[in-house]
This record gives sequence, C-alpha cells and structure tokens, in this order.
Amino acid sequence: MLIGVPTESAPGETRVAATPQTVGRLIALGHTVVVQAGAGARASYPDEQYAEAGAAVDPGQGVWGADLVVTIDAPGPTELEQLRPGAYVVAQLGPGQHPELLDDLARRGVTALAMDAVPRISRAQSLDVLSSMANLGGYRAVIEAANVYGSVFTGQVTAAGNVPPARVFVIGAGVAGLAAIGTASSLGAVVRATDIRPEVAEQVESMGAEFVPIEVEDQAASSDGYAREMGEDLQRRALEVYARECAEADIVITTALIPGRPAPTLVTSGTVASMRPGSVLVDMAARNGGNCELTRPGEVLTSDNGVTIVGYTDLPARLPTQASQLYGTNVANLIELLTPGRDGRLVLDLEDEVQRGLTVTHDGTVLWPPPPVAVSAGPGPVPEAVPAGGATPAAPPRARDPRRGYVAMALAAVLFALVASLSPPDFLGHFTVFALAVIVGFYVISNVTHALHTPLLAETNAISGIILVGAILQVGNESLLVRGLALAATVVASINVFGGFAVTGRMLRMFRREDVA
Ligand code: NAI
Repeated sequence: MLIGVPTESAPGETRVAATPQTVGRLIALGHTVVVQAGAGARASYPDEQYAEAGAAVDPGQGVWGADLVVTIDAPGPTELEQLRPGAYVVAQLGPGQHPELLDDLARRGVTALAMDAVPRISRAQSLDVLSSMANLGGYRAVIEAANVYGSVFTGQVTAAGNVPPARVFVIGAGVAGLAAIGTASSLGAVVRATDIRPEVAEQVESMGAEFVPIEVEDQAASSDGYAREMGEDLQRRALEVYARECAEADIVITTALIPGRPAPTLVTSGTVASMRPGSVLVDMAARNGGNCELTRPGEVLTSDNGVTIVGYTDLPARLPTQASQLYGTNVANLIELLTPGRDGRLVLDLEDEVQRGLTVTHDGTVLWPPPPVAVSAGPGPVPEAVPAGGATPAAPPRARDPRRGYVAMALAAVLFALVASLSPPDFLGHFTVFALAVIVGFYVISNVTHALHTPLLAETNAISGIILVGAILQVGNESLLVRGLALAATVVASINVFGGFAVTGRMLRMFRREDVA
C-alpha cells in the first residue's frame, strides 16, 4: 500500500505526521512511502533523512493521491478534492466537532481514521495521540509560564538575599496536568494540584505535588478514567477552592476537561482580580472555550491587575521535533495494527473495539459516534451514607450470612484434626508453617498498593529462587512422591524466575534512550 505524508497546510502547524524513523517502520511493514518535499522541514527532519529511510520524496502534491494519507490536521477543501475514492486518511479529525467533514469524507468513499478518537483504554495506549500531545502540552505550558513569569521557579539563597520558590497551582490532573506538575516540580517550584476525581490524589503526590481535595459528598469518582459533570454542591465548593488557591499562587495552569463538553469555567474574572500582579495563568483548555473567563484562544493578554493569561492552543506544535516523533510513532503503531500480515496489506477489523472506535467513515457511511467501550480505570463510586435530597437510597448489597462462615470454619477444624491425628509429627510442623505462610502471604500481598506491584514481582522472584534451591536439593530424594513434587516445584519456580526476568527486561527496554520514540 502506498502511504503519503503531506506538508501540513494549517497556519502555524509545525509538525509532520511521519518522521524518518517512523517511515522506516512503515516500510518494514511492507508499505511504500512517499513524502511531500519539505514536509518535515519545520520539525527539523530534512528530505534527505526521509530518502535515507527509504521514502520517495515528491516535490508536488502527489502524496494526496496515495492509498493512505497520514496527516496531523484534517484535510482542507483542496486537499479533500485530491483524495481518491477508496483511500484511507489518518488524521486528527475532531469527529465530534466537524460532522460536515465526516459527511464529505463518507460521500467521497474515503475511510477516515480519527487519531483523536482512539478509546482511552490500556490496549490502545500506544495509539493515543491525545495523551502523547497532552503530555508535551503540559510540559510546554510550564515552559511558557516560566518565560513570562518575572522570577525564578526554584528557591535560592544568595548573598544578595533569599528568593522563595514559585508556587504553582494546577487544576485538572489528567495527562496534561500530571506532566505540568512533574515539570514544575523538577524546576524547583512548590506545586499544589486539584481534580474533581479524588482517585488521582496518589498520582499527583507521586509527581511531587500536594493534592488539594475538594471536600464534598458528591465526589466525581469515575469508572472510566474521565471526569463526569459536577453536581451543584461540588461546583460551588470547587470554585471556592480554585479562588483560594489561585490567590496564593504565582503560576496557575488549568487543564480541566470533561470529554464531549465545552471546557468548564473554573477561574472567574473575580478570581483573576484576586491574583497578584505578575502572576501567570496558562489556560490549556483555551481551544475548547477555556477554563478561565478572560482567556482568548491563541493569545497572551494581561488583566487589569497585571496577571498574564496565556491561551496558546498549539503547545505541542511548539515542540515540533518531539511532537512529530510521538505522533508518528502513534500512527506507525496504528498502521502496524492494521497490517497483521506485515505484508503491506491493510486489514480493517470493525469487530475490534479500538479500530471501530477510531473509524469515523467507511464504505460511504459515517460511523461516528462509535458504540461505548466498556472500561474500568478505577473503583466505582462509593455509595453515599446519607441519600442526597431525600431520595430513596438504593438497597445495600445483601450481607453474607455469617453462619455459613462459622460452618466452613468448623468443617476446616475437623478436617485439620483428622489430618493431624493420622499424619507423622514432622508433617504437622511443616503443615503449620505452610498454613501460616499462606495466611501471612495473603494479607501482605492483598494490602500492597497497585503502584508497588512491580517491586512485589521482584520479591516473588526472589522467593521463587529459594523454592528452586529447595526443590533442587530434593531431586535426589528416595521417595518417588518427593522427587515428583521437587520436579514440579522446579518447573513452576523456574517459570516465575525466568518469566520475571523477561518481563523486567522488557520494562527496562522501554526506558532505554535509543528505544524511546
Ligand atoms: P484529561 O481528560 O486526561 O484530563 C482532564 C482532567 O480534568 C481530568 O483529570 C478531569 O478529572 C479534570 N477535571 C474535569 N473537570 C474538572 C474540574 N471542574 N475541576 C478540576 N478538575 C477537573 O485531559 P488531558 O489530555 O490532560 O487534556 C487537558 C486539556 O488540555 C484538554 O482541554 C486538552 O484539549 C488540552 N490540551 C491543550 C493543548 C494546547 O496546546 N493548549 C495541547 C494538549 C491538550
């Protein structure tokens, strides 16, 4: 299949949808790639590098006639004219906001895959451009803030006096918010952050910030990793928290988003008026209407009381080299998924929820919106003790009959007494140790937080190593039963040890510099 990589035509767009490195991956999948001359120039990828990677460089507009066209932004009217029927287009199409574009693509018989409609589930993470761009955007938001802020981020003790660290307040701790927190902390600022999803507190703290809770009964616990709309009580309390924290902060970064809705207004003009002169607010949600009442998308303005409000909507494009590499990798991962035979033939499987989720037109039909994807990114909401507004509370789950537990315990005790009376004294000792190990192990492991499961894996590897040594010592035992058990223990423990090494090795490779895309 011929894949075309055009020069982006949107004003201010500096990125390109494939880099020389990702072009190499597409060619390895059996595809042929043609890149428009100069496509990667603004992202520091010259044509020669594409040619070295194996792509043809076309000085004209021929790329738009390819079987599959990959771009960052949706094609404009003249570009749409050049797409041929039956072609594929892969781009950020904003399907929710541009129904007329989808109609047009369907009418032309184009299969459109929206990179910004990838379902946010673990399996699709490697295709998720919204996350990779928001991650860079969060980083760049802090850099933009530092650029206009008239002081340093890190505290300093000098002969000429002491400088306190900057105080940064981040609203919304999703992908962009967490990246902003990490960047601001690493620059030495004191960071506080809030979110209506209380379950993100641990992640906020792990990035070096203090979590500011919004304490109300009506918390927006989510079951799918996204926020849901706030109730009135939560909204009022949240606005109080934002106003208090903004007045204390030197830098405010807002990233709040509820998918499919305009950005919620969280920082009112009154809150801005209470901020100190010289403080900075970067509104990452500017494109969707802004989280601050005064934001103007794409502009930097100064309020009457001297607060700079940055409303850039192109933060990832301000890091074009890295942004193109990440976007290109997401695209290459998608094309790899669509080329199961690695033979240059594209196979679109609409039964697969990831492929279905991002396919917005196919066979002349608009397929947007896709059916909802069943996911669970966190524990469900905790049932309220007191029903709000006098509503009838949902019936609590039926408690288990405690008598069943007592009967099971009595049966286990009888069984144990029977085994103990019939077995040799040695066995009883070993069995007691075994039973205690099971009980202690169960309670230790089930109380380990998810974030520590990787170190726990290493721990179980070490334990398997001990089992392996013990089992090897018993391999020469006279009893056939013991020898059989020793053999089984050796096999099972080896799977754990060597499997653990393989998994750890794979994880470490993800952090090696040459593999980081
Ligand atoms: P996300 O969905 O991962 O995170 C949004 C967070 O906001 C969620 O954690 C949610 O719980 C929280 N939130 C929603 N309502 C809230 C409220 N009232 N108070 C506090 N927290 C609230 O989204 P992601 O990917 O982090 O993107 C964040 C924003 O950044 C989006 O609006 C996105 O369009 C924008 N963005 C802007 C860029 C730019 O160039 N300006 C670049 C990339 C992303």
